[in-house]
Parts: sequence; C-alpha cells; structure tokens
Amino acid sequence: MKKVTLLAIESSCDDTSIAILQDGKILSNCVATQEAHRIYGGVVPELASRAHLENIIPTVEQALVQANITRKDLDAIAVTRGPGLLGSLIVGVTFAKSFALALDLPLIEVNHMQAHVLAHYAEAPFPKFPFLCLTVSGGHTQIVMVRDHLDMEVLGSTIDDAAGEAFDKTGKLLGLDYPAGPIIDKLAKKGNPIFTFTKPKVGELEFSFSGLKTNILQFLKKEIAKNPSFIKENLEDICASVQTCIIDILMEKLSIAASKHQIDQIAIAGGVSANSGLRAALQTYGERLGWETYIPAFQYCTDNAAMIAVAAYYKYQQGQFSDQSMAPITRWAI
Ligand code: KG4
Ligand code: ZN
Repeated sequence: MKKVTLLAIESSCDDTSIAILQDGKILSNCVATQEAHRIYGGVVPELASRAHLENIIPTVEQALVQANITRKDLDAIAVTRGPGLLGSLIVGVTFAKSFALALDLPLIEVNHMQAHVLAHYAEAPFPKFPFLCLTVSGGHTQIVMVRDHLDMEVLGSTIDDAAGEAFDKTGKLLGLDYPAGPIIDKLAKKGNPIFTFTKPKVGELEFSFSGLKTNILQFLKKEIAKNPSFIKENLEDICASVQTCIIDILMEKLSIAASKHQIDQIAIAGGVSANSGLRAALQTYGERLGWETYIPAFQYCTDNAAMIAVAAYYKYQQGQFSDQSMAPITRWAI
C-alpha cells in the first residue's frame, strides 16, 4: 500500500516551519526562527511577514532533504489557515496554494490551536479521549475538552492577555529580550518566589493576565523609587515570583475544570508548556489528584509544522480538503 506523505507549513506568527510526515511519523520538522523581533519586546508583524517570504523556500528544501524525499513523493500540502497574524498567514497560505496547484495535490487547512493540542500525537504516549488540554501560547490561553482528534471544545479562555504575553510583557518591563518566556524560565530557576502579586478575579474557567502586568509594573515602580538597582539586584527572585504566580493561576483553573468535568487525562500544549515550572507543576498536581498527565516534547511546544502535519493527517483520512479559494482567518475558534 502506498504511504501517505504530507508536507505541512506553519507561518502564523514569527517562526517559519516546514514538516514532513509519512504515515503518522514525523520525518522532518524544520523551524527558521526570526531574530528580527528580539529587541522590540514583541513580534513586529511587517518584519515577520517579510522574514517568512525569505525563509519559506529554503525551509521547504531543508525539510525535503532531511526527510530524504522529493516533491514527487508528496500526497498533500497542509497549511495553518489561522488564527494568527494576517501578513504571516498570507505568506504560508499563498505558498501552500501555489505549491498544491503546481504539484496537482490536495490542500489541507489546519487550525493552529487545534494543532497545538494534536502535537500530543506526534509521539507516544498519546492521551486517551476525552482529555483536557491547557493550551498556553503567546496569543492564546485555553482549557480545551478534547473528545476526538478533530472534536474539541474550548471550556474557558483568557478575557485579555495570554499567558505567553504575560511572560513577554513582564520581560519587557524587566529589560529582557523577546521572547522573554524562556529567559524568565531560566532566571527563575536560580531565584525564589519571595514577591507576591494579586491574582485576577474572573469567571470560574476564565483567565486574565493584563491586571497582573499592571500589578508588576506598579510593584517595580515602587521598589525602584526606593532602590534604583532593584531589578538588577533581584532579577532572579522577581522572575521566580512572576513565573510562580502565572503557573498558580493556570493550574488552579485547570484543576477546577478537571474536577468539574470529571476528567483525569490532563495535557498541556503551546509555547508556555515548554516552561520548566509549569511542566513540574503539572506533574505535582497529577500525583496529588490522580491525573494521567501528558507533556509534549520541547520541539512540539513552541510553533512548529509537525503539529500542523499531525492535524492534517487526521483531516486527510477523513477527506477534509480545501480548494484554491481558501483564505487566512486571523481569529478562528477551534
Ligand atoms: O505557541 P508559541 O510558540 O506561539 C504562539 O502560538 O503564540 O508560543 C510562544 C510563547 C511566547 O510568549 C514565549 O515567551 C512563550 O511561548 N514561551 C515560554 C517558554 N518558551 C516559550 N514561556 C515560558 N517559559 C518557557 N520556557
Ligand atoms: Zn502557537
């Protein structure tokens, strides 16, 4: 029987990624990370789309070479349709449509947030249905009920900033480069959570992080007025405190959702699931509450095309294809 080989494209934010998947197995997962945003404290959309344009063809070539296949071996082209930055999505979607047309292959559109959840099926152990997935990225914070590969429901999400944004915006206040999440994670390991911040009061399964940012800003201003070197002298403890606060908020809501819906299969996904504190907290909660926990390998946490390929593989099996009229969607619920 002929093997099913998919090429997947991810360009929703600031990483250009191409993956090849053959019969459910990842053969390559190449990511071109954009350095241009580092000094700006966040992604600059115009710079991101330009960098995608430059990166996409070399990354496709690299993914094909690493997978040891040629274009002739491909059976379908998959691409992130949204949610994401419009200019970034346009580059991936336009390339995917042209590539599919030129090679006479079917096109598969993928929801980026659904793909973050399905990153769990890139490598065993696979979560059993139904499970809950806390999807935490730079743009989203969601608790998702996953009933099947393509059957998901958002139980709760953020009403303002995402968890990743809370890390990145705090980093900006502390003078750290973007993305600050991994930097705060590293510094937090050497500090102690000695400072406390106010947790938001929102709906049972809702999140809010914009108040936390303001709270941190006011705290820093007050401390700097007393001691201008406060940040420099306390950076590791500040990072540990902020990280602990964000993790507590996330885990509190996740455990409410688990008990409310009587689910003991619990997963995390998205860029913030790379955070060492969150990974450890999930395990601790799991041991205490009898959960079976699932944490993706690091390469499948932050944006990557392997997760797009996995999602596309399930859509391919169900014959869910798109035509050439498909256009990006910047906001797209799963
Ligand atoms: O999923 P992702 O790569 O892109 C989006 O879809 O947004 O997530 C990026 C976010 C950024 O906010 C980044 O700071 C955060 O994930 N992040 C982390 C860590 N690694 C990435 N946050 C905390 N700790 C980390 N180790
Ligand atoms: Zn993402």
